[in-house]
Amino acid sequence: MKVVRRVLEMKALARQWKKEGMKIGFVPTMGYLHDGHLSLVLESKKRADVTVVSIFVNPAQFGPNEDFKKYPRDLGKDSAYLEKGGVDCLFYPDAAEIYPPGYRTYVEVRGLQDRLCGKSRPGHFQGVATVVLKLFDIVGPDLAFFGAKDAQQVRIIGKMAADLDLNTEVVTCPIVREPDGLALSSRNAYLSPEERKAALVLSISLRWAERAISAGERDAVKVIAGIRAAIEAEPLARVDYVEAVDPVNLEPLAEIRGEALIALAVFIGSTRLIDNVRLYV
Ligand code: PAJ
Repeated sequence: MKVVRRVLEMKALARQWKKEGMKIGFVPTMGYLHDGHLSLVLESKKRADVTVVSIFVNPAQFGPNEDFKKYPRDLGKDSAYLEKGGVDCLFYPDAAEIYPPGYRTYVEVRGLQDRLCGKSRPGHFQGVATVVLKLFDIVGPDLAFFGAKDAQQVRIIGKMAADLDLNTEVVTCPIVREPDGLALSSRNAYLSPEERKAALVLSISLRWAERAISAGERDAVKVIAGIRAAIEAEPLARVDYVEAVDPVNLEPLAEIRGEALIALAVFIGSTRLIDNVRLYV
């Protein structure tokens, strides 16, 4: 596996692959990799000729009181994992490569960026869209793979790619979960054993909602109240938001009909976790 640290070197390598007629698959990450990330790599390997993974803990997407400094990092373990997964290239730039001194340009996906997680994390999706656009320009992918766990993120990136006529197809891959239902996340590493148990309330409450809806419940207010009640019954959990939205414009639904996304963010102790379920009723 080739490890590239410089933007110009990555661009040159991508140009070379293009010249050779290779289809480039790309998986952007912030590292501390798990099987959720690997599922994106495996999909890329199926659909592209070369697979590039980036590891970059993007300062622009963290708020001033968030976990940028303590975000888990383990490059040694990550690169061994990617090598074993058959990745062709790891792009691992320094912050100064991506945001040189005096950096000024940011991308907004208006409307979509302010909903759901955007309400409690102002500026977050501007940081995400900016770094992903830069990474797309550097890596020049034909296909880029994102997880449905971050449903709002993949919707925003897809919208950005459409609006800016990017030559990258944005592919959404399913959520990978632990056997007990907890969605894999690098932030699960923050959880104490007690918190790890409490964190099950996210997936359990979503499963309850799915069952209620398949039993005929259509009232979004009732579904949301049921999810909230389940979460509030767990002493270590605190709801950030629970919403039922249209998966395209992310606007709240009154009635669960047609395509729906039920998304939530919950603090378990001081760790903020997200999860969601996509439904077609
Ligand atoms: P990160 O949290 O490292 O996630 C990288 C990719 O892995 C994202 O597309 C995310 O949705 C996906 N992923 C994480 N957990 C998953 C799971 N349990 N199942 C399936 N996919 C999962 O998301 C980011 O990094 C950053 O915001 C980034 C896009 C790299 C921009 O900085």
